[in-house]
Amino acid sequence: MDATVPVLDAVARKAGTFGLAYESFDWGMPHYEKHGCVAPEDFLETLRGFDAIFLGAVGWPGRLPDHITLTPLIRLRQAFDLYACVRPARTFPGVPSPLRRTDPIDVVVVRENSEGEYIDNGGLVSPGTPNEVAVQTAVHTRRGVERILRFSFALARTRRSRLTMITKSNAQRYAYVLWDRVLEALAPEFPDVQTDKLHIDAATLELVRRPHTFDVVVGSNLFGDILSDLGPACTGTIGIAPGANINPEREFPSCFEPVHGSAPDIAGKGIANPIGQIWSGAMMLDHLGHADAAGAIVAAIEKVIAGGPKTRDMGGTASTKEVGEAIAAAI
Ligand code: IPM
Ligand code: MN
Repeated sequence: MDATVPVLDAVARKAGTFGLAYESFDWGMPHYEKHGCVAPEDFLETLRGFDAIFLGAVGWPGRLPDHITLTPLIRLRQAFDLYACVRPARTFPGVPSPLRRTDPIDVVVVRENSEGEYIDNGGLVSPGTPNEVAVQTAVHTRRGVERILRFSFALARTRRSRLTMITKSNAQRYAYVLWDRVLEALAPEFPDVQTDKLHIDAATLELVRRPHTFDVVVGSNLFGDILSDLGPACTGTIGIAPGANINPEREFPSCFEPVHGSAPDIAGKGIANPIGQIWSGAMMLDHLGHADAAGAIVAAIEKVIAGGPKTRDMGGTASTKEVGEAIAAAI
């Protein structure tokens, strides 16, 4: 985040048509250590009035289990109806892919972000005993499935007009068969978009085997989570992968965060790749109506990746700060 704010400021200065005012919150581990909770009770009310939420990676599993640290993030996505999680993954000249094929990859994973497998719905019977039972039930609503598919169709139209829906409807015959039925019902409204379907197991295989053939890939909360790690793994490094948690109706502030986690093994060393955060900032500006500024950030990222300093995950030796400064300078 420290390496990203100067980039946002640089692009705002250059544009001259908007300014950015920030308020920072130390929620996560620092807040937990001071107050015994990851975020204040009223954190949603606090965030409600902002134009956007810009979130750094959260979690320090060695000090607090992730399912506690990350609860406010999942609550935020659900309470603010940030149902469209948009996570692009593309190749850049200068980032080596671990795959042998060299065709350019340009995929956007759209993840249903408000329900599905992430609904807080379950319980334990006889916890801690040998008879312990854990129940956790996913919830898929027709409304929820329909709106994320409509969003994905519309996004596909702005790109290469291909939409692939990921389910596991050969085994989970209620939830994912609902997805199949909704896709079938909507497809005639978008005759110009070519649709197909894959089960999650085959999707992981095909994304590795022929990633260049995918355009927009849509799936439930859990499948979208999995695929949005796999996409950047195929293109080279998750260190550059951005994410947007969007409320398309704009009734709530949307939230922008990198796809990667907090990388506690390198935390504080100043060597993390800032590009995932910086590119998430570009998505935020785009959402706020500053498409040119967003484009300028992505162009600067491209330039620095092609011939500037690189962090270790990309085979370089540069620090987080150096990469951020190079991108700000390129702007
Ligand atoms: C992500 C993360 C989170 C998720 C975790 C940290 C709860 O993996 O944003 O992809 O699963 O949504
Ligand atoms: Mn994830």
